[in-house]
Amino acid sequence: MQSPPVAVAVAAAQEAGAYLRENAANAAIVVTKGRGDFVTGLDLAVNDLVQERIGTAFPDHHFLSEELAARPLSEEPTWIVDPIDGTLNVANRFPMFTVSIALVERKRPVVGVVYDPLLDDLFVAEAGKGATWNGESITVRRDVAWHDALLGFDLGHNEPASSESMALAAALRPQVAGLRITGSAALALCYVAAGRLSGFFHHRLEPWDMAAALLIVQEAGGEYVAMNGSPVTSPQVGSVIAGNAAIVTKIREVERARRKT
Ligand code: IPD
Ligand code: CA
Ligand code: CA
Repeated sequence: MQSPPVAVAVAAAQEAGAYLRENAANAAIVVTKGRGDFVTGLDLAVNDLVQERIGTAFPDHHFLSEELAARPLSEEPTWIVDPIDGTLNVANRFPMFTVSIALVERKRPVVGVVYDPLLDDLFVAEAGKGATWNGESITVRRDVAWHDALLGFDLGHNEPASSESMALAAALRPQVAGLRITGSAALALCYVAAGRLSGFFHHRLEPWDMAAALLIVQEAGGEYVAMNGSPVTSPQVGSVIAGNAAIVTKIREVERARRKT
């Protein structure tokens, strides 16, 4: 039996996903924030839909979203939502994007739901209760050798952070099996949780990119730290490395060595 917050988040993500399936082919850019950094009408429509569903179910909870004015994260129960993670993909009809919904209490994620509407892939986690992919329990891969690892990463819209990620990808490339960019950091992190990727790194994510997906990684038995090795205790702007403990350590070692040269 799903707890009320999980049930509400799953229903909102699936309803938003159905809307995106119907309308993704007609995404129109309404705001350009920077090169490759857009807001489409779909981002705003999904934001409104999810906010309405969550606000109706939990009128006392706070609501943070990429599409609303920034507010500091308080100790109060707060939903952190990315209506579309992968807007650059949507704007280009590139078929990879997700709806990401997290509930955070005392600044720690307690519910995480990430939904890929095109593959109908639903990732769900509740603190202390494990993670699922379409209802089946998932765990991060533990059996993969470093040279067989398939790692995800992404570049984002911040130039210095992007350059760091490109340089780390170049340093990793000769050591591992391959590297992938999905265009949705939340999706790539869920792929780590589900064993589709062995690890993931990013030099600058926003709270809504990671709030739901990091709980899903954690509940799937994975680990995550910032690039400098410090713990990521609450969703905030910053870097992240995720995977099983050995993969996280290896990526950190390569990052440290790269920075020394
Ligand atoms: C982006 C995606 C992408 C990451 C960017 C994010 P958006 O989110 O998560 O994978 O590299 O940094 O901004 O803008 O599509 O919601
Ligand atoms: Ca995002
Ligand atoms: Ca977004």
